[in-house]
Amino acid sequence: MASSVQRAFDLAAGDYDRARRRLVPGFDDFYRTAIDSIPFQRDDEVDVLDLGAGTGLLSAFVAYRFPRARITMLDISDEMLAQARKRFELGGDRFRFVVSDYADAVLDGLYDAVVSALSIHHLADAQKAALFGRIYAVLKTGGAFVNADQFRAATKELEKSHHGRWLARVRELGVGEKDLAQALERMKLDRTATLDDQLRWMREAGFRDTDCAYQHLIFTVYSGRK
Ligand SMILES: C[S@@+](CC[C@H](N)C(=O)[O-])C[C@H]1O[C@@H](n2cnc3c(N)ncnc32)[C@H](O)[C@@H]1O
Repeated sequence: MASSVQRAFDLAAGDYDRARRRLVPGFDDFYRTAIDSIPFQRDDEVDVLDLGAGTGLLSAFVAYRFPRARITMLDISDEMLAQARKRFELGGDRFRFVVSDYADAVLDGLYDAVVSALSIHHLADAQKAALFGRIYAVLKTGGAFVNADQFRAATKELEKSHHGRWLARVRELGVGEKDLAQALERMKLDRTATLDDQLRWMREAGFRDTDCAYQHLIFTVYSGRK
């Protein structure tokens, strides 16, 4: 499964950023809530790991909010990370890039925050729960995990309604049919989980203060602290 995800994002890399605002209605609030959920001060020299960093979109918001942060961007797709390298090419050694599959890679280092956007929903449920445990292990005490992601509604009816409203909204926002078709094709690889399950796996991994700060259509932002 990881290799089809990798292929899908290798193919999407060049065009990825362009359609984001239309495919994620509420883009500003979604990413803003993720950044607001990182419980540190602007000038703190925090170490941050971004899982599924892609072209570095979430990391760019982190870098802007925390100008002294050192950010490690990890992704399975070399092509997506190539865009991130370009984005941060003037940033110096504050930025590190690691091509790796977080489903089974050893997560190196010790971090103040582990963040992720629109990525972990590609893992099977058991892998998500196991990943939460591995994230907990690389966080410093007091550190936080923030996941801004897609989720599955609690019932089939709700899921159908959320997905239908998302589709109507992205069309209203003027997404191109080609971008939409590619996104829908990639979404066939999604393995979303309910919010209840994900918050429970967080608590089982040891996280405290687990919280969902954002829920809109098919998107959520939740977090917890070590
Ligand atoms: C939709 S993109 C999101 C990129 C970025 N976080 C953002 O907010 O725009 C999902 C990214 O997760 C990466 N990804 C998916 N599964 C992965 C895995 N098992 N290990 C590492 N990266 C993965 C994909 O290659 C892709 O770059």
